[in-house]
Amino acid sequence: MKRIFITGGRRLSGEVHIRGAKNSVLPILAATVLHKGVSVVENCPALSDVETAAEILRCLGAKTERQGECLAVDASNLQSRPIPEPLMREMRSSVIFLGALLARFGEAELFYPGGCELGPRPIDLHLRALRELGAEITAEGGSIRAKARKLRGAEITLDLPSVGATENAMLAALGAEGVTRIRNAAREPEIADLQKFLRSLGAKVRGAGSSTVTVEGKTPLCDGIHRVMPDRIVAATYLAACAACGGEVRLMGAEKQHLTAVLAPLKEAGCEIAADQTGLIIRREGPLSAVRPIRTAVYPGFPTDAQALFMAALLKSRGATVFVENIFENRYRHVDELIRMGADIRVEGRVAVVYGTERLQAARVRCTDLRGGAALAIAALTAEGESVLEEIGHIERGYADLAGELAALGAEIRTEM
Ligand code: EPU
Repeated sequence: MKRIFITGGRRLSGEVHIRGAKNSVLPILAATVLHKGVSVVENCPALSDVETAAEILRCLGAKTERQGECLAVDASNLQSRPIPEPLMREMRSSVIFLGALLARFGEAELFYPGGCELGPRPIDLHLRALRELGAEITAEGGSIRAKARKLRGAEITLDLPSVGATENAMLAALGAEGVTRIRNAAREPEIADLQKFLRSLGAKVRGAGSSTVTVEGKTPLCDGIHRVMPDRIVAATYLAACAACGGEVRLMGAEKQHLTAVLAPLKEAGCEIAADQTGLIIRREGPLSAVRPIRTAVYPGFPTDAQALFMAALLKSRGATVFVENIFENRYRHVDELIRMGADIRVEGRVAVVYGTERLQAARVRCTDLRGGAALAIAALTAEGESVLEEIGHIERGYADLAGELAALGAEIRTEM
């Protein structure tokens, strides 16, 4: 089994190139289903989740071709077939194929999706939005079937601004007669990136990035090319790693405006941040201090995906930092593993308090989920001795080469089969 070995204590210095965003490319790949032709996705990271999405496309009859960071999808001969359960279990975002297949074929069948275990992850809002567009949905034995003789544009108000439900509703609405308005939509930059991709195909979508998205359905589509936005959570990972280890790192391609909520606590903790046309630069020389409470929230608030990363960064800070996880119910599974390294963390419900400690010791730890796994890597970079990270498949879902990139920044880290 593949493992990552990390010996802590090195400062980080150098440059890292921020690749395309996982949470942007996955809905975009589902959206390629909409167009009976070719979609080209540039800056497409080589992640296991991306490979799963490509595999789903091939199962449906699409041709995919990767050249470097560019993935071309030819969905000309696609059919609406049931998506096999093992592929659906691989990742949560496979549920976005539901809206896309429904828009193109008027029917779709798939299994309940898997993905990181972060507590209950219902899809009721996705299904309700599709029903409002006219789909009949039945669920039986873990499989979901959606059917519509005709989808009709609708006024959809989401109970909460779910990222996935917004994406599913946008894609399904493209197959509906008339105009759909999605209110209380998620405002994450990945939604705006999905809109850019859809527009590259000629679709009429506007408002993404705000809380109302308007979609005009049934517009004829054409071949399109889109360059995926940089991954703001991968950028947050390197920012947190540099904050933890000290040093100076240039994040090439990182978008400052996507990262406002994570830059504020980094500055408060004692890091210097600068931005230029190439991206962001973080420098940390002096001690790291605890910061005011970090409360996760929907965009533009502090991202839940960066909670574990910042917790790891602050383990050796001076003072205590309170974290409040407001998005997912069970997103502290990394805490027990961090405690094995000597971290002082108390969790009660949605609140975790990190008391800064002077030393961390290396340990054998298990990645619990994608961001939790990256957090363990950050903690290990600051621990005394050699840590071993197991179950790193979680990390590979969202980082193309975390160990290689950290090694290039001077960390003592290697992957072994
Ligand atoms: N929710 C419902 N009902 C629904 C949908 C969501 O109650 O039908 C709840 C969820 O249980 C959760 C909250 O709403 O408590 C937010 O979920 P959301 O739908 O916004 O998240 P998601 O679409 O499942 C995406 C990212 C996650 C990221 C969240 C929040 C992708 C593929 N995944 O998930 O990324 O944490 O938005 O920003 O885009 C990750 O990359 O590690 C990751 C988990």
